[in-house]
Amino acid sequence: MNTPAAAITNLTVSCIGAGRLGTTLCRLLLDQQSDINVSIGQVLNNSFESSLEAVEFIGAGTAVKDSQRLNPADIWMITTPDDAVQEVCEALSGSGVLAPGNIVLHCSGALSSKIIRLPSEQCYRASVHPIHSFADPETSLSSFAGSSCAVEGDPEAKVLLNKLFSSIGGNCFPVKSGTKALYHAATVMACNNLVALLTMSKQMLAEADIDQSQQDQILNPLIRQTVDNYLNNADPAAVLTGPISRGDHNTVEAHLDALSAQRHWRDAYTALGETAVSIAQQQGYASDDELEKIVNLLTKTPDY
Ligand SMILES: NC(=O)c1ccc[n+]([C@@H]2O[C@H](COP(=O)([O-])OP(=O)(O)OC[C@H]3O[C@@H](n4cnc5c(N)ncnc54)[C@H](OP(=O)(O)O)[C@@H]3O)[C@@H](O)[C@H]2O)c1
Repeated sequence: MNTPAAAITNLTVSCIGAGRLGTTLCRLLLDQQSDINVSIGQVLNNSFESSLEAVEFIGAGTAVKDSQRLNPADIWMITTPDDAVQEVCEALSGSGVLAPGNIVLHCSGALSSKIIRLPSEQCYRASVHPIHSFADPETSLSSFAGSSCAVEGDPEAKVLLNKLFSSIGGNCFPVKSGTKALYHAATVMACNNLVALLTMSKQMLAEADIDQSQQDQILNPLIRQTVDNYLNNADPAAVLTGPISRGDHNTVEAHLDALSAQRHWRDAYTALGETAVSIAQQQGYASDDELEKIVNLLTKTPDY
């Protein structure tokens, strides 16, 4: 594949690690209707049975037993779990099948393309992280369109991958190699850690002797209202309420005392509280003096 990326019309994509994400992307790429014609080459999973199942779901491609049986392809999609990406790249390099102009990409959120070590400078490396939950591939086939995709790596690879992932409905945006882990941590904060935060809140209610059904009644409308307000306002200063917004330092002190029995509750409260203080500073409801007292409370080392 030595043709400039923008001029390519026929591509073979082979997939190593065709699990939930890999099978979905292969099928979407196969079915896309852009001016690039994609064929699925080979599929290599841990077990041959799994490779056969992946080929059946994709509806194209050939299952292979090991990396020594790989045939040439234009794009190598490594969609194993993150921890296997490096070892798979080494096996791919060692197989001798890579050719100049090939693109090797992975789909990890936290890793950059630099983890892909190739013998030849003439192969291009990239990562494309779709912000989508591929829990059920069949469902993802219809729900993938509209998902954002963070694209990073060699410029030659990015041109083509932006085009390919856009053709399956991805909203491609660039991310820098050096900030990939931070970018991914941000998405984890908004998604996974939000679930953890809400769970923590329920645990506190349980500790305060409030039963399960009441917990839902108390929290669910509050969560919905807060998330709606947040999503409908570009400025968090228009949304934040509560003791930090008002400068109620005595209330914050009482909270910290109440939370001190559970170190991780207190740590989460103080870490998020510091960001709340910076929002409160923009709001201007609380005085500088009140906010300074709150910062002192939040940053004071507790006596555990
Ligand atoms: N799932 C998501 O929602 C999602 C979203 C965004 C990004 N990602 C990223 O996408 C990648 C894949 O995630 P996934 O959820 O699709 O994983 P998955 O469903 O667990 O599938 C992983 C696949 O990799 C294969 N595999 C594991 N080690 C291998 C090796 N050494 N050589 C060849 N194949 C190997 C497995 O084969 P066997 O079946 O034989 O074990 C399996 O088919 C990860 O980098 C992840 O961070 C996932």
